[in-house]
Amino acid sequence: MSQKFTLNINGQTHTVDADPDMPLLYVLRNDVGLNNPHFGCGLAQCGACTVHLAGLGTPEKPHPLQTAYIEEQVPQCGYCINGWLMTAAAFLRDKKKPSEAEIKVALSGLKCRCGTHISILKAVKRAAEMMG
Ligand code: FES
Repeated sequence: MSQKFTLNINGQTHTVDADPDMPLLYVLRNDVGLNNPHFGCGLAQCGACTVHLAGLGTPEKPHPLQTAYIEEQVPQCGYCINGWLMTAAAFLRDKKKPSEAEIKVALSGLKCRCGTHISILKAVKRAAEMMG
């Protein structure tokens, strides 16, 4: 049985009728029309569906990770990018000046089918430096 939910997503209010057991990913993609959170493995194992309770940056004022991703030209197909960005942003919020080993551990649960892991590591290290 569906219920009415009011969600504030990226600063906008959305009202949806959804089953309370519906995964948030389906609500975001199918009911709200957001295509950025991706369905990857369907088992919460690859990280493509990761979201934050608050957004990152904007086109006018990107998050350091978004800037670093562009500067390092990380994305290939881009399918995994949101999971990496969301996970790395949460990590860098809590861990200042992380070592390379700490970054690798923090991101170890994510998968990139295009094999951009080296570029991702460079971008996260660059963002960590920007965030000081
Ligand atoms: S860029 Fe294609 S899956 Fe990561």
